[in-house]
Order: sequence, then structure tokens, then C-alpha cells
Amino acid sequence: MTLDAALAERIRRTPKAELHVHIEGTLEPELIFRLAQRNQVKLPYSSVEALRAAYAFTDLQSFLDIYYAGASVLLTEEDFFDMTMAYVERAVADNVRHAEIFFDPQTHTARGVDIEIVIDGIADALAQARTQYDFSSSMILCFLRHLSEEDAFATLEAALPYRDRFVGVGLDSSERGNPPEKFARVFARARELGLHRVAHAGEEGPADYVRDALDILQVERIDHGVRAIDDPALVERLARERIALTVCPLSNQKLKVYPDLRDHSLKKLLDAGVAVTIHSDDPAYFGGYMNANWEATFEALPLDAADAHRLARNSFEASFLRPALKAEYLTEVDRFWQSASPPEPARTATA
Ligand code: ADE
Ligand code: ZN
Repeated sequence: MTLDAALAERIRRTPKAELHVHIEGTLEPELIFRLAQRNQVKLPYSSVEALRAAYAFTDLQSFLDIYYAGASVLLTEEDFFDMTMAYVERAVADNVRHAEIFFDPQTHTARGVDIEIVIDGIADALAQARTQYDFSSSMILCFLRHLSEEDAFATLEAALPYRDRFVGVGLDSSERGNPPEKFARVFARARELGLHRVAHAGEEGPADYVRDALDILQVERIDHGVRAIDDPALVERLARERIALTVCPLSNQKLKVYPDLRDHSLKKLLDAGVAVTIHSDDPAYFGGYMNANWEATFEALPLDAADAHRLARNSFEASFLRPALKAEYLTEVDRFWQSASPPEPARTATA
């Protein structure tokens, strides 16, 4: 399917919110090498090209192995700042107005990097982005699900002195064999603390993990969730309860969840009334940021301008923004799509 040029332009320009991006997944190979040099970290790749050539993933785990290796160059607050600022500049260029950014403290604390360095470096860049680009954002602390719940608890406790810097918790890393129930207690604690809750579910794992993330972890959004399509009752529930699925099409393609985007469940879920949104996941690894994800999806699936308007709206509606700012963004989205619509055909007056 070819994407109409006028619609492609509108998709690029529409205001949008990014609700599913791992900040460590925005580390471009060039920056990985620059930081490795700055910090005297030895990489198992001889060049940027050799590293890029290794980005031939067969599944989630084959990606995660390289992604954690890439993050090993991050040591100082300045490294986290530079990585975050580079992401913000890409997002702003794609007309992302608001982002809720995942970070994985355990990837860094396990290497001896203090959680304060991680949080301060990212938060300082986001504060600068707010004044420099009028870019709103928040941070979501993710637990690595291949590690124990005890480790997740220790991470949450270590982050509590910085409680005002993040709005919620998430769950990522290897899904298969690490079901939501493994983290029931730490999510209950996060809820007590007034934190928002999201979780990766139904990416490689079954539709049941989506249901368990809702029932056991009491999450407010599901990251990916594309396997929900296997369970019609679950799809109906997602639609009824307005649970957003933060879908990342290029990630799904590169990790072989949907090797061919034409088979992606996004359009079916949207048509079933599910609050689907489109995001970039780990854009430095999967071949593109927000607009690349939107364009590839619209190229592959029979989506039209009304779908694009809905997807843009969904992204702000599903955000954890305070209601007044959310309403402002939604007005901006609606104005954009109303003014960008082709003019109505001239009507002849009837008496
Ligand atoms: N961490 C970074 N990207 C991820 C993904 N797509 N799934 C699970 N964990 C991740
Ligand atoms: Zn993700």
C-alpha cells in the first residue's frame, strides 16, 4: 500500500505524545562509541558499522543482550543528560509534544552506577527540554522482570528519595517465563505510594499476561499488548475499560512479533474500539523514531486520516498528564486535524 503524500505530511506534523520509549533504547551507535571513548569503556565491537551490523534480531532476548551491552557506556550524569537531550531533539523534530520516558535503573546500579546519577542526568535534560522546546515530559521507573521481585523492591526503595522525579513504575525485559504475578507485591507497594502503573505484556508473552497485568498488577496501560488479539473477550474488555495499548510497530517487526507489518493487529484493535497508540520503543535499535513508526504503520495497513486523528488523540488521552494540560493538547490535536482536513465541497443554497 502506498501512503498518500498529503496524509503522510499530516501524520508527520500532527502533535503527538510518546508513551513508550526506553531512554536506553535511544542510544545511537555513534553516541555509544563517543561515550565509550569518553569513559574508557571497552566495547566488543570494533566500529559503529560493526555494532550496527549486529542489529539483526531474531527475538526479544537477542535484542536485549545487545541493548544491555550498549547501555554499559553510561557512567556519569553527563552521559545520561546527553543521551536524553539527543532523544528530545529527535522527538521535537517529529512533533512529539509530550513524552513519558522509561528508564531501567537496575541496568546501571548493577554496574555500580548510583541511581541518583541516572535520575538526575535524565531529569536535568528533561527540565531543559521544557524551557528550550516547550516539551513536557515525565519519567517512569521500570523493573527488569528477569530479576527477582526482591531486587525490584530494593530499586523502588532506593528511588524513593527522588519520588518527585518520576510518576510511575513499569515492567520490562524478558517477558516469557516472567509473568506479571512475579511482581504483585512491588506493584501493590507502588500503588500505595500513589504511583502510576504500566507493564509490558502480550509482546512475546500470551494474552493471559495482559489480563494478569490488569488484574494482579492493576496497571493503567499495557505496553505492546498486541497478543490480546488472540482473545476476543479481552479485546472487548480493553475497549470497554479504555485501557490503552502502547504499540510499537517497528519494534514488533524487528523482533519478529510481526515480521510483516501488513499482518499487524493494530488496525483490528483500533476498529474494535481499543485505545491504541503508536510509539518507538527503542528507536536507535529498531530503525526509527515516532514519525518513522507512524509512517511505516500507515504504509502497511489500511489506515486513514480519521484513524490518524484518533491515534494522536489516544496518545494524549492515555497519558498521565494533569487534566488541564491534557485538555490543551487535545484541543491542539483537534484543531490540527480540523484545519488540515480538505475543505468541504461548496454547498449550493437550498431555499
Ligand atoms: N526493554 C527495552 N525494550 C523492550 C521491549 N521491547 N520489551 C521488553 N523490554 C524492553
Ligand atoms: Zn518497550
